[in-house]
Amino acid sequence: MTRVLSCIQPTGDVHLGNYLGALRNWERGQHDKDVFHGIVDLHALTVTEQPGVVGERTLALGAMLFAIGLDPNVATVFVQSHVPEHAQLGWVMECTISYGELSRMTQFKDKTSKREGQFISAGLFSYPALQAADIILYDTDEVPVGDDQRQHVEITRDAAIRFNHRFGETFVVPDAVIPAAGARVMDLQDPTSKMSKSGDTDSGCVMMLDDPKAIMKKFKRAVTDSDTGPDAVRYDVAAKPGVSSLLDILAAVTDRTPQQAAEGYSQYGKLKVDTGEAVVAMLEPIQSRYDELMSDPAELTRLLQIGADRAREVASATLRRAYDAIGLLPS
Ligand code: TRP
Repeated sequence: MTRVLSCIQPTGDVHLGNYLGALRNWERGQHDKDVFHGIVDLHALTVTEQPGVVGERTLALGAMLFAIGLDPNVATVFVQSHVPEHAQLGWVMECTISYGELSRMTQFKDKTSKREGQFISAGLFSYPALQAADIILYDTDEVPVGDDQRQHVEITRDAAIRFNHRFGETFVVPDAVIPAAGARVMDLQDPTSKMSKSGDTDSGCVMMLDDPKAIMKKFKRAVTDSDTGPDAVRYDVAAKPGVSSLLDILAAVTDRTPQQAAEGYSQYGKLKVDTGEAVVAMLEPIQSRYDELMSDPAELTRLLQIGADRAREVASATLRRAYDAIGLLPS
């Protein structure tokens, strides 16, 4: 079965755009391929300076991944730091990737320019080597990534090929694949930008854990336009970004096309309320499973342990192969 790896950094709370755009497809796709999902807490260390924060977010993200329906007995959901082989192969990858290659990473340039005057860790620079280890450890065939991560998968391929060339055929060379199309979810206050928490206010961003009242308020205040008339509610992204964005969300939640979702509507008010209510209804069971898990840390730990055990099984074999190929002295 095709092995797929996706990872997510525990850097913040999950919002509706993350869910409808990507995470829902993780849940829906878990039976089709052999999927591994890492919560990459070690990657978050590149920009972490306070105790306690990463662990808390890792736990919350773990609870969210199970709450949206990832089944620990089907998908391998694991925390990166629970699998020490990541750091171990990460070092081997640092020695397989060149300084020049790392210097060409556009994400490093972006991130450092945003951190002017702040501490810039060596980890921020060498991070693609750790990411290469994340991928290679699982004999990964496919890595679904957006454009911002293509360069990192490319460097991973180069590293795998270089290692195989130096030390003999050891690693599977992964392919970057385009993720299953998720819904287009735009900011409710600025429907020409993707939904994200980094907007000026959070009123355009629906968080997975927002209570129903907050969700309804955000939808009722969603930006639309001043058209009136019987065909004001129609899907036209260029001319009517606000209305189209509501239709995108309603369509995604009710598994229809935006055109189908538009049928029968003539008033923006009703469209907003119905979309808000559909989102509330979709999130209700997710939120209650999330709350249940967060109030039962022992159960949550047990679920993450299932993933860690499975991940270690695969990762330790790969690391062993790599050490043997290099000819490190067996312990
Ligand atoms: N670098 C990715 C990001 O910033 C996260 C990540 C770490 C990742 N390791 C990975 C993604 C392995 C895919 C595969 O979003």
